[in-house]
Amino acid sequence: MRALVVHESMFGNTEKIALAIADGLLDTFEVRLVVAHEAPTDLAVGWDLVVVGGPTHAFGMSRASTRKSAEEQGAPAGMQHRRGIREWLAAVSGDVQLPAAAFDTKVAKPHLPGSAASKASRRLRNLGLRLQVPPESFLVEGMSGPLLPGEVERARKWAQDLAAEVTGRQPTPAA
Ligand SMILES: Cc1cc2nc3c(=O)[nH]c(=O)nc-3n(C[C@H](O)[C@H](O)[C@H](O)COP(=O)(O)O)c2cc1C
Repeated sequence: MRALVVHESMFGNTEKIALAIADGLLDTFEVRLVVAHEAPTDLAVGWDLVVVGGPTHAFGMSRASTRKSAEEQGAPAGMQHRRGIREWLAAVSGDVQLPAAAFDTKVAKPHLPGSAASKASRRLRNLGLRLQVPPESFLVEGMSGPLLPGEVERARKWAQDLAAEVTGRQPTPAA
């Protein structure tokens, strides 16, 4: 079985979560972890699970203007005009009947509305993919991180539970 994990990251936090998710899937799937601007847009053949994640920007998925703002706040330059998950999802060909899931990172502030994962989930559903689990957010301390303690481990476990959901196996017990 093969899983595609598509991600974007400005400050590196979502990348760390994506790596942990790829790791958590490895017991069950052959995993391809890829940044959004290099991800395939034809999903018709070869995949058994698609997972997509990015940073929450302005209550949803990033766009060129928010990536520019992240660069102005110290993120490495060069991502502004590259495809993020929003642009990747817009380019994916429709009616793909695959299991899927979405995640994001967002600031650990209570009651801050909106998340990239919920917006990505909606797009996945509109494309015909079947969401296996609700959208999940992993939390960072400030605008540029770092991740809260334990979030990498939680991401790995989330991915193991997702794999169990896809295969119908019992989930891995918590460590
Ligand atoms: C332009 C911009 C807008 C943001 N908007 C939000 C937001 O609406 N909600 C939120 O929780 N975090 C917001 N953040 C914080 C990001 O979610 C945070 O930078 C991200 O999770 C870090 O992930 P990364 O290291 O992968 O880029 C914003 C950050 C930037 C740069």
